[in-house]
Amino acid sequence: MIEISDEQDPLWYRDAVFYEVHVKTFFDSNNDGIGDFTGITMKLDYLRDLGVTCIWLLPFYKSPLRDDGYDISDYYSIQPEYGNLSDFKVFLQEAHARGIRVIADLVLNHISDQNAWFQEAIRNPQSPKKDWFVWSDTEEKYKGVRIIFTDTETSNWAWEPHVKQYYWHRFYSHQPDLNYDNPEVREEIKNVIRFWCKLGIDGFRCDAVPYLFEREGTNCENLPETHAYFKEIRKLMDSEFPGTILLAEANQWPSEAKKYFGDEDEFHMAFNFPLMPRIFISLARENVLPIINIIKETLPIPATCDWGIFLRNHDELTLEMVSDEDRDFMYSEYAKIPKMRLNLGIRRRLAPLVDNDRASLELLYALIFAIPGSPIIYYGDEIGMGDNIYLGDRNGVRTPMQWSYDRNAGFSKADNEALYAPVIINPNFHYESVNVESESRLPTSLLNWIKKMIRVRKKFTKVLGRGEIRFLEHNNRRVLAYIREYEGEKMLCLFNISRKHTFVELDLREFAGTRPVEAITEAAFPSIGELPYFFTLPPKSFFWLSLLDPSEVKGEWET
Ligand code: GLC
Ligand code: CA
Repeated sequence: MIEISDEQDPLWYRDAVFYEVHVKTFFDSNNDGIGDFTGITMKLDYLRDLGVTCIWLLPFYKSPLRDDGYDISDYYSIQPEYGNLSDFKVFLQEAHARGIRVIADLVLNHISDQNAWFQEAIRNPQSPKKDWFVWSDTEEKYKGVRIIFTDTETSNWAWEPHVKQYYWHRFYSHQPDLNYDNPEVREEIKNVIRFWCKLGIDGFRCDAVPYLFEREGTNCENLPETHAYFKEIRKLMDSEFPGTILLAEANQWPSEAKKYFGDEDEFHMAFNFPLMPRIFISLARENVLPIINIIKETLPIPATCDWGIFLRNHDELTLEMVSDEDRDFMYSEYAKIPKMRLNLGIRRRLAPLVDNDRASLELLYALIFAIPGSPIIYYGDEIGMGDNIYLGDRNGVRTPMQWSYDRNAGFSKADNEALYAPVIINPNFHYESVNVESESRLPTSLLNWIKKMIRVRKKFTKVLGRGEIRFLEHNNRRVLAYIREYEGEKMLCLFNISRKHTFVELDLREFAGTRPVEAITEAAFPSIGELPYFFTLPPKSFFWLSLLDPSEVKGEWET
């Protein structure tokens, strides 16, 4: 755990700026074409300067990499190409030295079929390991449970020829689900948690949490047994490793997603999956109602809990939890080429999704930095990286980080062909211009803009990180207007989500006597009075306005 005294607030995650990254994608220190722990350690200053306060590492454990590490063959060791345990420890130490916490992906629903546990189970069906998995003589059990990887799998059961039975898998057939009815499994996963926590990790992003238990007659998701087990894990973390957090990947409808917070005794955080696609729907429909309605549905949550707010991640932009109509709309707007689709989602990065429109990018980031929850940035999206939909599976959004316009985008000095994936050379997103070095030199770059926004978000971290949200009534569906408030600190946020100039009149009488001061440039607006307050908003624009007592408004803007 981090040992910086002023970083000891147990609610640190509520003010955090998260950065999601895969070790293999970030920087290659030994020039074999694959990023490694030593490489990402060398780039920690970059992340500190960006303003990131917590890194979420995608799975780095030993794996045959048939699901990019989400197929773990040994929980207690590191994939050799990424380094070894001592490289990992150095990375953790160096991150902590910079005030950056680190959480790791914990894949606990399933393992790789190459894992010794499964191998033992199939080689010797008498062994206790056999019961570590879920078996059936027929494919009839748990009928009707949805298939997640619809493009590759036709059943949640796979035939095992040695055992001569089927085993249960919610994801790829090479990922047998663990049997959480077996107490040894439940204990072993706790050992895994202890192992990494003892090394100093600050928490876990728990993968695929809804699926741990199976029960006949249910959809085998979000079962009470699953919640009960996570409460046990929470207890373990709180008592043995205070200050660590659990972040749930539960891609569910709001009512079920919220349940993972428990009674402040389960997850500290959960990804706001319900909100994410609706941000894109709102943007394309030029109508803020989908955002407002879903935020209302995902609140309130227990006081010490928070949503993880994200726009994109390492997977396809999932559309599992939207209506068929919304999914069709999303495909028609954001996935015009069939190759852009995968399973029930869209495999594209953020910048290509919005046609590299800078105003849209700024609007979207401004939104995720200012709605309730902690923002999570997907590596490369801060420089506006492109994708490669021709790489298969979700690999097109996992290409090497672009550091400079040197060979291999400065990611590696390996031969070009040796890279784990090709760098992006599409002219609109070519690494020769979309890279950290060039963008650092250009004051107006996306990278510098995001850095600035993170600084501003941190300046207002309490009101933006922890404040309540209250939507303001008005009659313009293109405009999102709300108040964030925390212990008397108030911020008025406005977003014009449309392609047109627009205006909005707000009844701000309850704030009469205060002056709106724009949070980024500190420009002061006229005092609020009894009359409706009028704003004009350019296309895809936003305002974050602190509502201040006129005596607090200083400097050249004082009028
Ligand atoms: C989660 C991960 C995804 C992975 C799947 C199976 O959804 O985000 O990348 O393929 O779990 O582990
Ligand atoms: Ca390497």
